[in-house]
Amino acid sequence: MRNFVRRNSLHMRTSLIALFACAAFLVAAVTALDPSCVAPNNTIPVWTAAPVFVSSVPNGKLYQAGTGNDTFNVLHLYGTPYQQGYAQGQLLSSTIKGLTNDLVAFIEQEAEQAASWLPVWLIDAVVANGAPFLLELTFNATKPFAPQRYLEEMQGIADGAGVDVKDVQNYNMFPEMTKAACTIVGATGSATSNGKISHLRGLDFTPTCPIASFPQVTIYHDSTPGPVLANVGWTGMVGVLTGLSNTSIGIGEKVWINHPKDIESTYGEPWMFILRDALASANMTQALSRIQNANRTCAIHVGVGDSTTNTFNGLTIAAKAYDVYNWQSLNWTGHPIIQDVFYWDKHVQPSHNPCLGEYLQEFWGNIDAEKLALNIAAPFGTGDMHCVTFDYSTGIAFIANARKPSVTAGTLPAYYRQFTRLDLNALWNLAQ
Ligand SMILES: *[C@@H]1O[C@H](CO)[C@@H](O)[C@H](O)[C@H]1NC(C)=O
Ligand SMILES: *[C@@H]1O[C@H](CO)[C@@H](O)[C@H](O)[C@H]1NC(C)=O
Ligand SMILES: *[C@@H]1O[C@H](CO)[C@@H](O)[C@H](O)[C@H]1NC(C)=O
Ligand SMILES: *[C@@H]1O[C@H](CO)[C@@H](O)[C@H](O)[C@H]1NC(C)=O
Ligand SMILES: *[C@@H]1O[C@H](CO)[C@@H](O)[C@H](O)[C@H]1NC(C)=O
Ligand SMILES: *[C@@H]1O[C@H](CO)[C@@H](O)[C@H](O)[C@H]1NC(C)=O
Ligand SMILES: *[C@@H]1O[C@H](CO)[C@@H](O)[C@H](O)[C@H]1NC(C)=O
Repeated sequence: MRNFVRRNSLHMRTSLIALFACAAFLVAAVTALDPSCVAPNNTIPVWTAAPVFVSSVPNGKLYQAGTGNDTFNVLHLYGTPYQQGYAQGQLLSSTIKGLTNDLVAFIEQEAEQAASWLPVWLIDAVVANGAPFLLELTFNATKPFAPQRYLEEMQGIADGAGVDVKDVQNYNMFPEMTKAACTIVGATGSATSNGKISHLRGLDFTPTCPIASFPQVTIYHDSTPGPVLANVGWTGMVGVLTGLSNTSIGIGEKVWINHPKDIESTYGEPWMFILRDALASANMTQALSRIQNANRTCAIHVGVGDSTTNTFNGLTIAAKAYDVYNWQSLNWTGHPIIQDVFYWDKHVQPSHNPCLGEYLQEFWGNIDAEKLALNIAAPFGTGDMHCVTFDYSTGIAFIANARKPSVTAGTLPAYYRQFTRLDLNALWNLAQ
């Protein structure tokens, strides 16, 4: 097997990445749940102060939100994609310089730790070729499908920060190789206190990942033609896995485990880029058609909400899959139908874990973003890497991030750390 891998033929590299890209890193994520569904709420007072100005450059303004050890960047970007990237690179050059190296070390270490369940030849491949090689291979496979504006933005980040563009590209391919558990809840109508959409997005993915040091809400102004976007993610990452737009479309992703065989592809647009395309849509119809018409890759679940139609859908997508569900169309054992609430818990679907359904029923009629964060995500234990909820009609977000690797105080998972309330309506009207 070792010899086989080390032959390193192009074909071998390609089939290797196909397996690696959509199969690896199922690590950690799913934790055991108390069968009685009784766990503490998050009782840390929410931090409500507005973000504090840090510094600015042409086309970029950096603020800091949160307090103590739970701060995160709020970065406003203006201008062309290249200018937006350049401004981010300038403002955060020291962070960006270290990112790829930290991530590469992490991937290689995870591959080693996963030795018990990863095929030996795959571990050999990471050891023999290194994570940068696999990331670059992924970038090469997806580049022909990537919208030009994201390539320009990555070039801008590299030039602004003074790093090799390959580093920024590789860093941005990391999510294409990862799978995270995660929870999606979209409640609306009769289920919520204001009749509008409340959306929970819990990202459950190894919270010790080095990017946990650099949480960031990036506000993309001037994404002409299109709305202003809030990308809740990390420094230097141009794709979206959690976001809200000012029109207002919202997006949250979840891995699709146990999907049918042979429906994924290495060749296509990275899924986080597709989700950013969808987030920049005018309405649900356009968001769905952008996802449907994309050259998709990995098998994932997506939650998409639209405040203009007050609708929330769940999607299962892959290179060869595209299905749309609403709260009425998932009639699964152990997954009670709850009026006006679409949900998938952090477990493999269909999940028979009763707890999320129980929490949602308990708060039904009275659900809002704050309760989704403090009283539902926290006791359910979802969103260890980041836990984010949105009230679409008010543009209010509640955001908590995993404990930073440099910090020793407090719990590790985001859902039991301090949430910060962010008024996105105020943010996307900030003039340059
Ligand atoms: C969590 O908060 C809700 C709403 O305030 C309350 O009903 C529930 O009892 C709390 N749960 C625990 C375990 O304290
Ligand atoms: C990716 O493509 C570039 C440009 O064609 C090439 O130089 C490089 O060797 C490729 N990288 C890998 C890992 O295949
Ligand atoms: C969203 O932002 C865009 C760009 O600034 C603006 O043209 C549009 O009117 C805004 N939409 C809403 C609903 O505020
Ligand atoms: C959705 O947005 C597209 C693009 O702006 C527009 O053409 C279409 O009419 C809209 N559809 C609905 C149902 O609002
Ligand atoms: C990308 O997707 C479109 C529409 O689904 C399809 O027509 C096109 O052939 C795909 N491109 C490639 C290179 O596969
Ligand atoms: C869900 O499925 C059960 C069992 O098949 C059926 O009795 C019930 O009517 C279904 N509910 C809905 C809302 O479709
Ligand atoms: C932040 O973390 C440091 C180092 O772990 C700890 O000493 C300090 O008490 C923490 N501060 C707060 C406000 O929790």
